Amino acid sequence: MQIYILGIESSCDDTAAAVIENDIIRSNVTAGQEVHKNFGGVVPELASRAHQQNIIPVIETALQLANINKKQLSAIAFTKGPGLLGSLLVGTSFAKALALGLDIPLIEVDHLQAHILAHFIRNEDRSNAVPDFPFLCLTVSGGHTQIVKVHEYSDMEVIGQTIDDAAGETFDKAAKIMGLPYPGGPVIDQLAQQGDPNRFAFAKPRIPGLDFSFSGLKTSILYFIRDRLKENPDFIEQNKADLCASVQQTIISILIEKLKAASDASGIYHIAMAGGVSANSGLRRAISSAGEKAGWKVYIPPLSYTTDNAAMIAVTGYFKYLQKDFADQSAAPYARSRM
Ligand code: KG4
Ligand code: ZN
Repeated sequence: MQIYILGIESSCDDTAAAVIENDIIRSNVTAGQEVHKNFGGVVPELASRAHQQNIIPVIETALQLANINKKQLSAIAFTKGPGLLGSLLVGTSFAKALALGLDIPLIEVDHLQAHILAHFIRNEDRSNAVPDFPFLCLTVSGGHTQIVKVHEYSDMEVIGQTIDDAAGETFDKAAKIMGLPYPGGPVIDQLAQQGDPNRFAFAKPRIPGLDFSFSGLKTSILYFIRDRLKENPDFIEQNKADLCASVQQTIISILIEKLKAASDASGIYHIAMAGGVSANSGLRRAISSAGEKAGWKVYIPPLSYTTDNAAMIAVTGYFKYLQKDFADQSAAPYARSRM
């Protein structure tokens, strides 16, 4: 049986829609929001307004590219949380209205679970490898940093997480300190390619177990740069690439160290990563080389499924559809993680 799911994602600053036919991707459309670029972060009120403007064209484009009429849809899946409430409300309300209008099931999706299940999106000829259960997933995004033990599509256990800032937030804040635009992660990634990752050393956290902390690193970067600027006002400009490479290297080593500890502690050698920061070229190389040394089977998502997208919402919707795990019209978004 062909099941067509429309996925809708609006948790932060990307308005996205995707159509999946069973677990095979048919279209994946994202409208980003330039409006936040000069604010050093997402402005919630501006994000909600931009979602409101983008949602209809994005959904129409996703249906067109998939060559699907909305009457063919089997269900509507939407991001219920976590995220910005005003942003989530746009996608949630639209999904509810569309499901009601078409008289098809409504499926609520957890954004973090979806980042992980993006690994199960199949390309047209189903040639891509998908992880075997159980596996560990390092989920690293702008709002979250977790190590998740994935037992099943719907059975996930967080075994380590940040006690303060997220990895992506640290990239973004470091970029802001250096006067780089938001989101800082991709900009740092780019500049780091010409830099020396061992040029500058920053404080690394000493947190026991599998949890992370990034607030000390952020302060270390801030104070280091502030002190150097006192001696040389052009310090950032003259050392930008080395600063970016060193910051990136420090974040990566914190992540990989904990991932190794998690694999050792759990005896699980199937390792995946997900979320916006998993787009980082240094992190992608580092997880591959750590995996070669440790004998891991590593799963690195295609770039289009790392940052926020609706394909991951649609595929999660598909697995929930098979379980008949449907929501009703009382579904209300949530801001904080429930995983
Ligand atoms: O998953 P995502 O799109 O949204 C959230 O759910 O938060 O992640 C966004 C985060 C931002 O902090 C952004 O700077 C970071 O992912 N990011 C990167 C890269 N691309 C996106 N960080 C480092 N290197 C990248 N190439
Ligand atoms: Zn995300």
